[in-house]
Amino acid sequence: MSELNRFITARNWMKSNENFLTTWHAHVGYKLDLFDCFSKAKSVKQAAEECELSLPLLERWIDVGLEVGHLKKGYKGKIKAKKKLVKYASANSSESVGILLREMMELHIPTLMQYPELLKSDERITYLEDKFADVVAETSSFLEKAAVSPILRTVKKEKPESVIDIGCGYGGYLKNIHDKYPKIKLSGIEINKDVAKKAEEKLNGEITVYNQDMVDFIENYTGKVDMVMAHNLLYYFPVKERKNLYQKIAKVLNEKGTVTFITPLTKAKYGQTFTAAFNTFMTAHENLFPLPSLDEMKEDGKSAGFKVIDAKPLIREGGWYLVTMKKK
Ligand SMILES: C[S@@+](CC[C@H](N)C(=O)[O-])C[C@H]1O[C@@H](n2cnc3c(N)ncnc32)[C@H](O)[C@@H]1O
Repeated sequence: MSELNRFITARNWMKSNENFLTTWHAHVGYKLDLFDCFSKAKSVKQAAEECELSLPLLERWIDVGLEVGHLKKGYKGKIKAKKKLVKYASANSSESVGILLREMMELHIPTLMQYPELLKSDERITYLEDKFADVVAETSSFLEKAAVSPILRTVKKEKPESVIDIGCGYGGYLKNIHDKYPKIKLSGIEINKDVAKKAEEKLNGEITVYNQDMVDFIENYTGKVDMVMAHNLLYYFPVKERKNLYQKIAKVLNEKGTVTFITPLTKAKYGQTFTAAFNTFMTAHENLFPLPSLDEMKEDGKSAGFKVIDAKPLIREGGWYLVTMKKK
């Protein structure tokens, strides 16, 4: 009986790992633009020659693709990519989500794989900001779909005359506010040079993006604004420095000013599987930091004179929340 149980357990582990193959296959296809290559039916040999790829390895990738349903075999055994993959996993498709595959396979999974060594030492991996800043800014912007409407509702309700987005990434929230409320004075602050440059391009030069550390920016800023957005930013700040961060935000806010945070929350009602994985990833780095719980945010915010007025889930399975605070 115990031998049978061992066999069943081993088999279950194997089976549960099958899903990984789907992501692996899509990632390889995205990296080498293989779905685009097979957007028209062609033989494996032809594709290997055209794209200068190893024939036996390409054959194996195709075997997997046929199994996981990314590819299909047609007339004379020619291979064609399914339309969905050409659309969503080709780098040059305007609807591509392939960058998310890159983030998972090149950033998250390799970090998790280092866990055994990390657990046995005090060492942490360094998050390579220059290498991944664009990837992270782009994947963060996928969240906008769920978050823009509530942010616009907040703007409608609070009627700010000026808004600063700290750690604005590609500036998607600023753009959405500008399109709907062109009179509001908007600015973005983005520490990464390439990301800040791309944000200005995306914003057609209509909104200023300061390529600066938001901490320095606020230190030298003498004005006040009515609203601050800090979306997907908290995990760049050590837990012990967060009270200070709230104080910095309070410094630039007018009385009764509003601040919106978007962040995955620990100890929340939704999305704790994802949050646990994300938090594991964060904690493995020396320059990324754990996700907050709502209680921690309340307490840190309170110390800087903020009151949480709303906390609603944006993407339940991801544990992503929009937390809105108001300066007393
Ligand atoms: C995860 S992205 C989120 C982008 C955008 N806020 C969003 O939610 O789509 C966080 C951005 O904050 C930037 N950032 C991190 N620390 C910063 C700091 N101290 N000052 C300004 N920007 C910062 C990063 O370079 C990155 O582009």
